[in-house]
Amino acid sequence: MFTDISFSDDRPLYLQIRDYIKQMILKGLLSQGQKLPSTRELSSILKVSRNTVILAYEYLQDEGFIEVLRGKGAFVSAINIDYQNQWKFDWNSKLNSYTKLANELDIVKHEAKWKKGMISFKSIAPDDKLFDVEDFKRAFLNRFSLEGEKLLNYGYAQGYKPLIEYLLHYMSNKGVNIEGKDILITNGFTEGFDIVLSALTNPGDYILCENPTHNTAIKIMKLHGLNILGVDIEEDGINLNELKKTLSLKPISMGFLIPSYHNPTGIVMSPEKRMEALKIFARYKVPIIEDGFNEELRYSGSHLSPLAGLCGHGNSVIYIGSLSKVLFPGLRIGWILGDKDLISKLESVKRSRDIHTSFLDQAVLYEYLVTGNLEKYLKKARRIYREKYDFALECAKKYIPHKRILGEGGLHIFVEMDENIDARLVLYRYIIRIVIFMPGDIFYTDEKGKNTFRLGFSRSTLKEIEKGFSIIGEIIKEMEE
Ligand SMILES: Cc1ncc(COP(=O)(O)O)c(C=O)c1O
Repeated sequence: MFTDISFSDDRPLYLQIRDYIKQMILKGLLSQGQKLPSTRELSSILKVSRNTVILAYEYLQDEGFIEVLRGKGAFVSAINIDYQNQWKFDWNSKLNSYTKLANELDIVKHEAKWKKGMISFKSIAPDDKLFDVEDFKRAFLNRFSLEGEKLLNYGYAQGYKPLIEYLLHYMSNKGVNIEGKDILITNGFTEGFDIVLSALTNPGDYILCENPTHNTAIKIMKLHGLNILGVDIEEDGINLNELKKTLSLKPISMGFLIPSYHNPTGIVMSPEKRMEALKIFARYKVPIIEDGFNEELRYSGSHLSPLAGLCGHGNSVIYIGSLSKVLFPGLRIGWILGDKDLISKLESVKRSRDIHTSFLDQAVLYEYLVTGNLEKYLKKARRIYREKYDFALECAKKYIPHKRILGEGGLHIFVEMDENIDARLVLYRYIIRIVIFMPGDIFYTDEKGKNTFRLGFSRSTLKEIEKGFSIIGEIIKEMEE
């Protein structure tokens, strides 16, 4: 005993000795009342300073694992561990329908995984090589030295006030009338959407969205027990005739739209269609949840007002923003902008779930944003992504047999192949060891989209884009023959 301990470099030695002795006691290898070696003895066995062992014993005593009796030594305390009661429970038998469905719809578990050496076009996460870590570090140190203690304590469910103010101003600069509106800070779009659906829908309600649409949104809608009605999307946005038809057929609770750089198609809804769609929803008295996740990744054309901006003084649009593509997804920060009174209700939902989003993260982000870093970063990121986007589009047209290639910005393009080619067969039968991408069917609300796939290019080099796309193209050509 004590001679088999091997120290690592990453933790203080006294903590490693404490944990070693704790484990011995918990496993029953040191029993109640047993005397431990003296601190002098143990320090000589382990070849560490005596103070290191004294500190380890002090912690063990504080945590109730040993008792130190003056002049007598250290002894193992009475710890009640009954190893007889080791029955195994079948947790699967306890899973409720929510968890079963979440597990079934978890594409991270079920879709093809990236392996070393593969070229991946699966993800649309930003390229972390672009992150200006030094600016973020500076923001952290500045904000932490100003309010460190405060930021480590509980904050407010609605969010960090200066960040809310910043984002209200930010939304106003996008043309949104913020009078009578407010913001709730969330853990990204994903939590924001979940909170909105939790607050405003009941299982069995109908929800309308574009078809295809963001697969995480489909998962959340299904987990809320909603009936999803997908409306086809055209090259300038949702099909308005179909929209009218669907709205007239069912009592629809909410609409969910991604008007800019839609996921997965990359389509941007035209300004005329935005106005028309708003009128149609208003006619049927159906409010809209707008997802603005990608708006900043515009590479050409003029500014487009979000639906939340076009509805002016109206309050029928709930806008959910996210910085996951525009900045850092790891921060998990997003926001819901909507009617002030509604936000106050959503704030209670947020508080009941997780009290609030990390105040430290919100405050550091605020410092980063308010000192002009977003604009600086976006200038660089847009230039680099634009180059990749142009090249990806050129290579896709050149190498990949297609019916349509869609995408006007953002971090991905969408390919529609001949009707009888199954993207999953391309992926699984041939490409799995070389190139992976996201099969399009996961974005559809029905059984459609089997002949489609999404290519995320943000983290690939130009060389990888050309090589990967030409491999995909060759395989599709073989399948066509
Ligand atoms: C359509 C859409 N909205 C929002 C997001 C961002 O979600 P979150 O903010 O939870 O990271 C994504 C990410 O892929 C997306 O595709």
